[in-house]
Amino acid sequence: MSGPALRARVLTIFPDLVAPWLDASLMGKARRSGLLDLDVVDLRAAASDPHRSVDDAPFGGGAGMVLAPEPVFAAAEAAAAGPGGLPRPLLLLGPGGRRFDQAMAAELVAGGGFSLLCGRYEGVDQRIVDHLVDGEVSIGDFVLSGGEVAALAVLEATTRLVPGVMGNTTSADEESFSSASGGLLEYPHYTRPADFRGWQVPDVLRSGDHARVARWRRAQALARTRDRRPDLWAARGGASAQEQAVLEEFGLA
Ligand code: ADE
Repeated sequence: MSGPALRARVLTIFPDLVAPWLDASLMGKARRSGLLDLDVVDLRAAASDPHRSVDDAPFGGGAGMVLAPEPVFAAAEAAAAGPGGLPRPLLLLGPGGRRFDQAMAAELVAGGGFSLLCGRYEGVDQRIVDHLVDGEVSIGDFVLSGGEVAALAVLEATTRLVPGVMGNTTSADEESFSSASGGLLEYPHYTRPADFRGWQVPDVLRSGDHARVARWRRAQALARTRDRRPDLWAARGGASAQEQAVLEEFGLA
């Protein structure tokens, strides 16, 4: 059998918080089957002092503590020398990084591996940024207390793109933001019952007319994107003549 399709490491001071996520759901199943090689690196394990401290007060004064270079470099170097190594790029999670999106998720998966360093406290020592990591990633314009939740978001978005991780191999590229969706949001989904508290599933979905169902879904995806995400709508250049016709067919033009 060939090796895992994707290898990733998460460097964190909260290994107990991150580890259960890697075991859960489809991610855990894909790990156990050897498709994914995911692991957590405890930043405190490499701290040399008896208190295993990883942070210190900032030079120049100011509030909060800064993640210190020694334990972080030591943890990264120990991981690099250990089994499986430290897959690169090593990315620091923080609000100042490049914005994470579906295209970056696909890029990381195509590369076969990466590592995520979770920032904490008020910040990380700049020498970690300058001399250890390969880049910085943000999951959005808001500030988390640390990078752990962001790292889990990156792992969820990437691992599910690995062929064989999701139960249904086609669902990953039909959904919102994937290139196959053409930069559109996803159409709405319905399951049974057909009538729930008087709210009906649209007739077209129960018609058995597969071509019409496909056109309705396309029209819904187009209208949602146009109405909710003008940025995505502009980026794709609005609707083509044929798409405009599909919108008109369902009264969404
Ligand atoms: N750490 C703190 N805020 C973050 C953000 N927005 N994205 C990634 N990591 C973070």
